[in-house]
Amino acid sequence: MRRAKISIIGAGNVGATCAHWCASKELGDIVLLDVPQTEDMPKGKALDLMQASPIMGFDSTIIGTNNYADAANSDVVVITAGIARKPGMSRDDLLATNAKIVGSVAEQVKNSSPNAIIIVVSNPLDAMVQRAFQVSGFPSNRVIGQAGVLDTARYRTFLAMELGVSVEDISALLMGGHGDTMVPMPSCTCVGGIPVTQLISPARLEEIVTRTRNGGAEIVGLLKTGSAYYAPAAATAQMVEAIVRDKKRLIPCAAYCDKEYSVGGYYVGVPVIIGSNGVERIVELTLTETEKAAFQHSVQAVKDLVASMSKLV
Ligand code: NAI
Ligand code: 2OP
Repeated sequence: MRRAKISIIGAGNVGATCAHWCASKELGDIVLLDVPQTEDMPKGKALDLMQASPIMGFDSTIIGTNNYADAANSDVVVITAGIARKPGMSRDDLLATNAKIVGSVAEQVKNSSPNAIIIVVSNPLDAMVQRAFQVSGFPSNRVIGQAGVLDTARYRTFLAMELGVSVEDISALLMGGHGDTMVPMPSCTCVGGIPVTQLISPARLEEIVTRTRNGGAEIVGLLKTGSAYYAPAAATAQMVEAIVRDKKRLIPCAAYCDKEYSVGGYYVGVPVIIGSNGVERIVELTLTETEKAAFQHSVQAVKDLVASMSKLV
């Protein structure tokens, strides 16, 4: 069987760590690409990772490059190119710089890998995925944003810590944008099949949701030199796996919603079924009035962000 070709654009913290997770799961052959100014850095990381393969026992070819010819005809392209947050910066502070970077990357991907499925990670996520969609001209099912898997993983981690149970027994869902307006869905959160609302009081649950909303900033505050990368990269690798193994995972991703949830043509976090065709279905839930209001508030924040971006590019 032909191995999938996975190109990761941006060989920084998230990109290189995503290559690590993808290689260790043998998801395919990997190309790690960065700008020419980084010179041999992607080659160094790729070679280092390849040299882990005899120890960890994976058969993936990993190459580092500054040249899109090496990434040609990829099945999946992950975009992590851009700048990351430093303390005091919000995701939106990254808007102008990263919109230009993601636009130029999407242009290259369009020409070199016309059939690829693009997963955007660069921030501010909801605007960057919209930018990649606009510039690539790819159908919306083939341009997806990573945020919901990470946000939900943070939420699941905090719930497991609170209850002293395995993370494996927590299943949860967060919707909306990747930002301060993300929307928890208590009705879709269970611990070993038990609704979370039977185990944690509303006030404590709200505190856990707040910590989740600030999950990225909490890591930035601790690291001081950049933002989170292990969990973001693992979340992205889960999406890559769902595509290359056609797993039909039902996970929250930033997907293009038009009529769905009455969003009107924007990328927002919603539950989707993801497989070899990218977003194969957006799952529409019946929201309570409270959830609906919170989701609409989040969608409005995404629309405002995209409007700001349109003035900058
Ligand atoms: P980083 O600074 O470690 O790596 C970024 C890499 O992108 C650098 O190596 C840089 O040279 C490269 N780059 C810049 N312009 C490029 C271009 N035109 N083409 C190819 N490569 C280019 O940053 P890190 O920590 O890897 O974060 C990457 C992005 O992902 C940031 O925007 C960050 O905010 C975002 N992020 C998003 C998350 C999410 O859940 N959606 C979670 C974590 C990070
Ligand atoms: C995060 O949530 C910075 O968006 C990134 O960690």
